Amino acid sequence: MDNTLLTLRNRRILLGVTGGIAAYKAAELTRRLQDQGAKIRIIMTRSATEFITPLTLQALSTNPVHLDLLNPDTESAMGHIELARWADLILIVPASANFLARLASGHSDDLLTTVCLAAECPVAVAPAMNQAMWAKPATQANQKLLVSRGVHLLGPDHGIQACGDTGAGRLLEIDRLILATSELFDSGELTGKTVMITAGPTREAIDPVRYISNHSSGKQGYALAQAALDAGARVILISGPTQLAAPDRAELVSVVSAQDMHDNVQSRLSETDIFVGVAAVADYRPKLAQNQKIKKNAANKRTLTLEFVENPDIIAEVADSVPKPFTVGFAAETENIEAYARKKLIEKKLDLIIANNVANAQIGFNSDLNETTILWQEGKVNMPTMSKRALSEKIVTIISQHIKQRI
Ligand code: PMT
Repeated sequence: MDNTLLTLRNRRILLGVTGGIAAYKAAELTRRLQDQGAKIRIIMTRSATEFITPLTLQALSTNPVHLDLLNPDTESAMGHIELARWADLILIVPASANFLARLASGHSDDLLTTVCLAAECPVAVAPAMNQAMWAKPATQANQKLLVSRGVHLLGPDHGIQACGDTGAGRLLEIDRLILATSELFDSGELTGKTVMITAGPTREAIDPVRYISNHSSGKQGYALAQAALDAGARVILISGPTQLAAPDRAELVSVVSAQDMHDNVQSRLSETDIFVGVAAVADYRPKLAQNQKIKKNAANKRTLTLEFVENPDIIAEVADSVPKPFTVGFAAETENIEAYARKKLIEKKLDLIIANNVANAQIGFNSDLNETTILWQEGKVNMPTMSKRALSEKIVTIISQHIKQRI
């Protein structure tokens, strides 16, 4: 099989292993997914441990295997909510008939079912069971219900089974499982498009050792870059200083000041189909950045006055360019959120704007969560509190829908 499934690189896959003879195949799957660059954490159900030891999977995944919902030690290390948030995908291999039934009826009486309920990321199941069990109306009803709710069904395969029967119910071959998993990460919504994203803060120099900046961590912009990559786009990420590692396949351009960000955006604009301004760009910079460190009490003054000049409005220039990329802004507001955001949408000639309340410490700057309203000329949609990653996927879908309407 092709050894370069780029879509799996750096993906965080939470592998759920349930009780069945095919559980031993989770060991090879773990290793092969890691070969493709995926990061693997594993949850086993109690019955899975009858078929393969947690130690085997722990050694292969190089992470502790999670077994219990109410174990204070593992909960304090990485609790069920953190596990659910960590994952880009929950992949259940093998999924037993019993597990499908419990997932379909919304159980949360062990770690794996609870994490599936708590997760916002996609869930995929690869059933493996005796052919008669797979064919039973109850199992068929359960799998159909799960699929209707958005769970991805990988297999099962048809053939000779461990019990000697022949029929549908075999676990998919590992090669096919890996391919199907990689396909789950590429929605194709932005295939063929180049998306330029600005992210993080800018720093405006006062002198060689001091600057003016803001609290942007880059989390929202980087999450959007990942979501655009997942949707098949080529991504140019123009980023101010952050502590984050850029998504693997993004073309990272590191900048410091607003002017620097502006110049780099302009130099790549002709390649860009979609521009998203997530960066918290300083509106003003000190008129004169001093060459030497400003000395305390220079000229015996107890106050220091700085004069500021306006920075270029990066996104407004993008929206004014010909041809104009589809242009999306963010509005960081502390009051009258929607009204101020709509004003920016119109004044900056944007196609979409995403308004967030940065006065709320639970969302906005540096949080993993955000709560937004997405506005466009004729409409809006409210997005409840969710992870920046989940929000980014929704933004990508809305962008792709608007682009299709334009054509
Ligand atoms: O980075 P995080 O910690 O995850 O936080 C995310 C965030 C709060 C920074 C993000 O969600 C956000 O709101 N980004 C926009 C911040 C901002 O500068 O908003 P604004 O309302 O001042 O600007 C409106 C739009 O104009 C933005 O798209 C901004 O990128 C753009 N702009 C602003 C000024 C300027 N000189 N040039 C610009 O392009």
